[in-house]
Amino acid sequence: MPAFTASAPGKIILFGEHAVVYGKPAIAVPVTQVSARAILRPDPRGVPGSMHIQAPAVGLDTYLADLPDEHPLAAAVNGVLSTLGVSRPLACSLRITSTIPVASGLGSGAAVSVAIIRALSAFLGRPLSNEQVSELAFEVEKLHHGTPSGIDNSVITYARPVYFMRDQPIEVLRVSQPFTIVIGDTGISSPTAIAVGDVRRLWQKDPTHYEALFDAAGKIARQARQTIEAGHPNDLGALMDSNHALLQQMGVSSPELDHLVTVARQASALGAKLSGAGRGGNMIALVQPANAAYVAEALSNAGAVRTIATQIEGR
Ligand code: PMV
Repeated sequence: MPAFTASAPGKIILFGEHAVVYGKPAIAVPVTQVSARAILRPDPRGVPGSMHIQAPAVGLDTYLADLPDEHPLAAAVNGVLSTLGVSRPLACSLRITSTIPVASGLGSGAAVSVAIIRALSAFLGRPLSNEQVSELAFEVEKLHHGTPSGIDNSVITYARPVYFMRDQPIEVLRVSQPFTIVIGDTGISSPTAIAVGDVRRLWQKDPTHYEALFDAAGKIARQARQTIEAGHPNDLGALMDSNHALLQQMGVSSPELDHLVTVARQASALGAKLSGAGRGGNMIALVQPANAAYVAEALSNAGAVRTIATQIEGR
């Protein structure tokens, strides 16, 4: 029996983070420069039903039976086994590798889940549909950060730019004109659950103010969708700037993020904003393709620990 391999890309949110948790639309795109990969191999010497799991990047080398149920890797595996009604799979080994930095808003958790779910269901001879893959990955996301909107598992499963609204079928975006963004990582790890929890508390204290901020972010995401579909990507710059200002008002920016955003704009970016949960993690800048390397260098000089330039395309 051959090995079964599946990979899943990273992702970045272009518009609408946080507001998306409150039912507003958001836009996210895959980042194919980084990815997670799962390889499933039969283990002829293994005890029937046992699964050896190795994730060298996080120093994990164990058996499925020894992981607690709420461990995200165990949850991804068990989700597939119970969906397919398999209680004792063939003895096998699962190896997980990833080039996606963790806790920085690039979707590493969801990408690992999607890769495992796809590799394991193929190994069991019953590959799951995208809808099922995304749903199972969403269940694992809940273990990662409590009340996820579902945007990460959706964009990573479909590996296409998406316009996402909570509890709605996902819509793949038509990108009429490709555009380039540079992602800059502050290097500060920021657990999504904390930023999301803080926003929730602030919203509970002052719902009128926060709902106005969420509405404004939702309006920007809708405008951004029209702009992308109409093929005027340069107009996204001003929308990014406005979205960043709203995220600052929500209390999720940080001096480091604001600094990188300012540096990118000064280095010719058409617009820039924090991306994802905020407080740390990444920011993004819209750039002319010819200026991508220059903006990336300016961000590195200003303290970004990693930069990725990526082109957003329809396919
Ligand atoms: O840091 P990320 O990219 O995982 O982004 C979290 C996005 C939020 O809107 C803040 C939370 C969510 O579940 O959508």
